[in-house]
Amino acid sequence: MSLHGKHIIVTAGPTIEPIDPVRFISNHSSGKMGYALAEELARRGANVSLISGKTSLECPTGCVRTDVVTAEDMYREVMKRFPEADGAVMCAAVADYTPVHTSNSKIKKSDDEISIRLRKTKDIAAEAGKIKDGRLLVGFALETDNETDNARNKLQRKNLDFIVLNSLRDAGAGFATDTNKITIMYNAPGKVFHYPLDSKKIIAKHIADHIENWFCEQRPQPAPPAATITRKS
Ligand code: CTP
Repeated sequence: MSLHGKHIIVTAGPTIEPIDPVRFISNHSSGKMGYALAEELARRGANVSLISGKTSLECPTGCVRTDVVTAEDMYREVMKRFPEADGAVMCAAVADYTPVHTSNSKIKKSDDEISIRLRKTKDIAAEAGKIKDGRLLVGFALETDNETDNARNKLQRKNLDFIVLNSLRDAGAGFATDTNKITIMYNAPGKVFHYPLDSKKIIAKHIADHIENWFCEQRPQPAPPAATITRKS
């Protein structure tokens, strides 16, 4: 129960950005990695607030889940809770763009081509990074190329403590699978940890070990014994 008393937010799953009442923009995230991690953190004694996009998964034992739909919903929920939390782990696959207008009625087929104007969503991890003030902040990076450079860039840009990198080029890693292959990178030269392909449950344990270790290192160290001054008479 090494994370006993720690309140940790975990975001998971995809966000859904509606175009009209029947269509949306989203991605293939299943939420499995985030849910496995939320479960492992709760097993180690943390109070886990799971902020989840749409998935078919059951809320893991010991977690409190809040369901959200859009990136904006997820942003609001994270920003509301983060100031009261000890840390946040951003596993969600947040849509980077959302339609400028959502039509109230179904868009009818007419022209051969149509365009949908999109605007950038808020970067939840980066916004949390601006106000983290000593809290733990962990991000994920799912990359297809220039993996290490892209992940290091996100680590620094979003003010993360560490980032969990997975590459879609690795067989068995990524969204829909029950397995993953990760590298954990810190913002310090050479502090990079590679893990072999394994089930998302085992991968969650590796990530939870890093989280536990981070909290251990933050714990105030006992003051060294006062120096004894001996005077020569
Ligand atoms: N993230 C977030 N809010 C966003 C986009 C991403 O909180 N609007 C978080 C993800 O949950 C993840 C990390 O940022 O922890 C990296 O997400 P990713 O999609 O890989 O990176 P982006 O910054 O969106 O960059 P790009 O899509 O260009 O790779």
